Amino acid sequence: MPNYFSMNPIPRSARGTLRFRVAVLTFIVCGLVSGLLPAQTNSPATTNAPETGAVGTNTTPPVPVLQINAGKVTGKVSPTLYGLMTEEINYSYEGGLYGELIRNRTFKANRTDPVFWNTVGNGIISLDTNQPLNAALNVSLKLDVSQASKDSPVGIANGGYWGIPVRPDTTYRASFYAKGRHFSGALTVALESADGKTVFASATVPKIAHKWKKYDVTLTTGNIGTSKDNRLVISTTKPGSFFSRHGTIWFDVVSLFPPTYNDRPNGTRPDLMQMLADMQPKFLRFPGGNYVEGNTIGERFNWKETVGDISERPGHRSPWGYWSTDGLGLLEFLEWCEDLHMQPVLAVYAGYSLRQQHVDPGPKLEPYVQDALDEIEYVTGDTTTKWGALRAKDGHPAPFVLNYVEIGNEDFFDRSRSYDGRFAQFFDAIRARYPNLQLIATTPVKSRVPDLVDEHYYRSQEEMQAHALDFDQYPRTGPKIFVGEWATRVGSPTPNMAGALGDAAWMTGMERNSDIVLISSYAPLFVNVSKLTGPDHSMQWRTDLIGYDVLTSYGSPAYYAQVMFSAHHGDEILGTDSQNIPTRDWQPPARRRGAVEQPPVQQVRQIFFNATRDSQTGTIYLKVVNELGTPQPVKIEISGAAGVKPEGVAIVLKADSLRDTNSIDEPAKIVPITESVTGLGTDFTREFPPYSITILELKTK
Ligand code: AHR
Repeated sequence: MPNYFSMNPIPRSARGTLRFRVAVLTFIVCGLVSGLLPAQTNSPATTNAPETGAVGTNTTPPVPVLQINAGKVTGKVSPTLYGLMTEEINYSYEGGLYGELIRNRTFKANRTDPVFWNTVGNGIISLDTNQPLNAALNVSLKLDVSQASKDSPVGIANGGYWGIPVRPDTTYRASFYAKGRHFSGALTVALESADGKTVFASATVPKIAHKWKKYDVTLTTGNIGTSKDNRLVISTTKPGSFFSRHGTIWFDVVSLFPPTYNDRPNGTRPDLMQMLADMQPKFLRFPGGNYVEGNTIGERFNWKETVGDISERPGHRSPWGYWSTDGLGLLEFLEWCEDLHMQPVLAVYAGYSLRQQHVDPGPKLEPYVQDALDEIEYVTGDTTTKWGALRAKDGHPAPFVLNYVEIGNEDFFDRSRSYDGRFAQFFDAIRARYPNLQLIATTPVKSRVPDLVDEHYYRSQEEMQAHALDFDQYPRTGPKIFVGEWATRVGSPTPNMAGALGDAAWMTGMERNSDIVLISSYAPLFVNVSKLTGPDHSMQWRTDLIGYDVLTSYGSPAYYAQVMFSAHHGDEILGTDSQNIPTRDWQPPARRRGAVEQPPVQQVRQIFFNATRDSQTGTIYLKVVNELGTPQPVKIEISGAAGVKPEGVAIVLKADSLRDTNSIDEPAKIVPITESVTGLGTDFTREFPPYSITILELKTK
């Protein structure tokens, strides 16, 4: 077996393990003190515990038995269990979900050079801070033209985010701000091939004013092929005015949008939105992740600078090393929620940034607390409120429904240990003004009792298997759990089947315990796979759920596992038990890098399962994950139901090898198959394929 753990550069398991230990220890101590341990559902000690001798002997291993007690509802499945987590990483928005096709449209990506822009013909381009569009966009692109003709036009060109997609019979909206000096010619805006030999669509702006002005054109393609090795060119065939042979044109906010999801102006990319819609997510956690924190306080997600017209958004550097225009700002996040019928899980900046900058609780933190209150008012306030009125002015009079606010992100990294105090200050202010909001802490705190605590787990396949029953052991008192970031980090750029299997094992545990795990979201969601390595790479973090280039997108096997889990579950968690679950040896990694002493070898289960029921229809959803590379017969026994119809449905995701995966070139190698099945009942045996995730829909009588 390959050691998948060693392929993970940034394991988070130690943290998760520690937190789990603390939880279990607290649980045990509380139990001893009170003399009464709270009842556990599906305790592995009595139900799923590996059985010695199940494998590794010469005898045929006994058939695993999964028992479902349909007469015992152990909890309610949280209706908001499956959601999305998102931030600007791996070109998730810029060059990803955000529809903008022009890279570095405001020329702020680099302080000295107009990166991602080229000159066409005999012109000279440079950045100019002396001709700002406004205070927010204080640098423009200057084009000096002294020779230009019909045969040799001069202009500027942008090749987008590793290409510009061009499709047949499609209308694109191009716009830019410009002003000219000693220039009176027309400008041609064209979508053309990267070598300039083929023009797919063009439009003309007859005259450029001497003052900044916005120009809009549409570009409509005809009966052409689909391609991505293209560029947008704005050019002139005249060098200057009647009086001067040398003309100058300044540009800013040069923008190009293809059709967007729901036709929203400044909107999102339809194919990616459809993939997300298929996940049936119930919430969107935004804007991070590290993106909410920024490397420094100055580079935090400062929401007030992300709203209003895109020409008034200064943009900022993302902690993942590239420029964000903030074109996808607070209102666009909310509209994204609206489009996919999700509720926002709003992360507010809480006074800590990644390079160990923090704001002490007390008066210095007040402005940040106020910013958070204003942000909540922007989201939820009616139009009589200051910030609700601004939202209306920005184009969305109706308030958004908000239930969850997360205070910060991963504040256990704050070495000043100021989070307890910072959390208390945010908590008190938000609770006083918005008593119904559920407030999420990013690490356990003592100062206040949060409604939920956000736990993050980035793990290997075996670690996911080893920890898949952790939540069965959690105390049922105290804050609920938000698993705000989690992933089996196997496979790059996107997870392979090993990743999907680790995820599925983990999801069976979250779902079985979604009486306490109320919300959960995989991370990261997106990766632009155009340039995985080298300078100007498009991926900052390996193992991301959905991959794409500028033209097409694909879901990883783990994506399909998510779709399956999210779309197929009931509202009641059923009691389960099991016998003869096969296990195998697993050597956990050393706790510290380079440590000589290895932790003891563990037995990890190879089959995971859970059962939920739709209380309206009576359908039982049995999820079975077979991590083994061999077909696995499993006996299924259902008690507490009058009967189960022989006919049902199976949804199956499987692969021939753990390394099998999907890619931009082979997007559908591993996809779920839905099939009708017979032979079901209250007692039946079914063979589960090697490396498979199966959901059986069992119709009760
Ligand atoms: O998901 C990638 C990063 O992992 C997130 O930005 C951060 O919260 C975590 O450390």
